[in-house]
Amino acid sequence: MGQRRTRHTVTVGLGRRRYEIVIGPGSLRQIGRHLHALGCSGRVGIVTNPAVHRLHGASLKQAIVRAGFRCHSISVPDGESVKTLRWASHILDELVRHRFERRSVLVALGGGVIGDLAGFAASMYLRGIPLVQAPTTLVAQVDSSVGGKTGVNHPRGKNLIGAYHQPALVLSDTNMLRTLPEREWLAGLAEVIKYGVIADKMFFAFLEERMEYVRAMREEDVQTVVRRCCELKARIVAGDEREAGLRRILNYGHTIGHALESLGRYRRYRHGEAVAIGMVYEAMLAHHLKICAQNVVARQRALIGRAGLPVRMPPHRFSKFWDALRHDKKVARGTVYCVLPVSIGKVRVAPLEQRAVRQWYAHCHDLLHRAP
Ligand SMILES: NC(=O)c1ccc[n+]([C@@H]2O[C@H](COP(=O)([O-])OP(=O)(O)OC[C@H]3O[C@@H](n4cnc5c(N)ncnc54)[C@H](O)[C@@H]3O)[C@@H](O)[C@H]2O)c1
Ligand SMILES: [Zn+2]
Repeated sequence: MGQRRTRHTVTVGLGRRRYEIVIGPGSLRQIGRHLHALGCSGRVGIVTNPAVHRLHGASLKQAIVRAGFRCHSISVPDGESVKTLRWASHILDELVRHRFERRSVLVALGGGVIGDLAGFAASMYLRGIPLVQAPTTLVAQVDSSVGGKTGVNHPRGKNLIGAYHQPALVLSDTNMLRTLPEREWLAGLAEVIKYGVIADKMFFAFLEERMEYVRAMREEDVQTVVRRCCELKARIVAGDEREAGLRRILNYGHTIGHALESLGRYRRYRHGEAVAIGMVYEAMLAHHLKICAQNVVARQRALIGRAGLPVRMPPHRFSKFWDALRHDKKVARGTVYCVLPVSIGKVRVAPLEQRAVRQWYAHCHDLLHRAP
């Protein structure tokens, strides 16, 4: 499907706010040309963290300076704990200090954490300055850099404070992914598999055929994966920017996934690992509710396992599990909603009844304890 050394462009069709995602090795080196084309002038701020800066900061800065811009690096510590109002405020302080203007631009160089934080700061400064997403993790390339959701966490919950701020451009340089720790790479594959289940059975079949190559980061396959996921996300977001309907299908695996993250106090699992288990169990629940065939569960479990991701839920008391489900953002008027697969490539959103989930949960636990 993909060609080595080629670049692909995916357009997110949002009218006046449409933007391009440029995918391929070395796409970030072309940033200067893109900034000129976007009409940016003056200053460019790079928001990043020390780990990513050490690996990729210098070459990005060089490309920006070479194109005639003044470049300032704004560094924040590594990790989810920087997604706070305090660190967003620190970025705003730096923008004020360096006299950023409306045509200045902020570049988010990093994973989803940096993208969400820098994007949120860009949405607030002067009521919004242009943002370029330069995603460096698989999660960020296939998911968080596209779609315009930005934000920070509140002590009482993840992503509770935020804004929609579409980027002006996304530069998904697949070379960036080569320095990722293996666990981060694999965690991203969970979101990749998710796209197959929710929207594209051919893509799911492609992953079944090529998983060993994808896992080993073969360039052609990596490009195919990033491009297809971006195409699918672009289509979903263009149809429903503010999550009134269709966009909710992106939450497949996330109702149970978020519950597991919270039960593991956000330390036990990487987000993608929790989503991987979430997909397996949401598929099992769909089968229990007679929404899908057993084969839909089996194919997902097999593929997720081959991607090196966990497929088993640790035992929790049902009351704790249900409580964690109810605290998710996808709860509306006390009802828990969940995305359930109908077949590979097709899902639907359904309310969950406590009684039915309890019955299924007891059944699963029997299976778990009987399994070797
Ligand atoms: N806005 C959205 O639509 C959206 C969607 C999905 C996830 N998110 C958010 O994204 C965040 C998770 O993103 P993530 O999984 O990318 O985690 P992350 O940003 O914490 O990055 C993971 C780790 O990899 C390191 N890293 C990043 N790029 C690297 C590289 N190229 N080489 C080596 N190390 C590198 C980072 O420093 C970090 O330690 C969460 O906060 C989540 O809420 C947002
Ligand atoms: Zn996710």
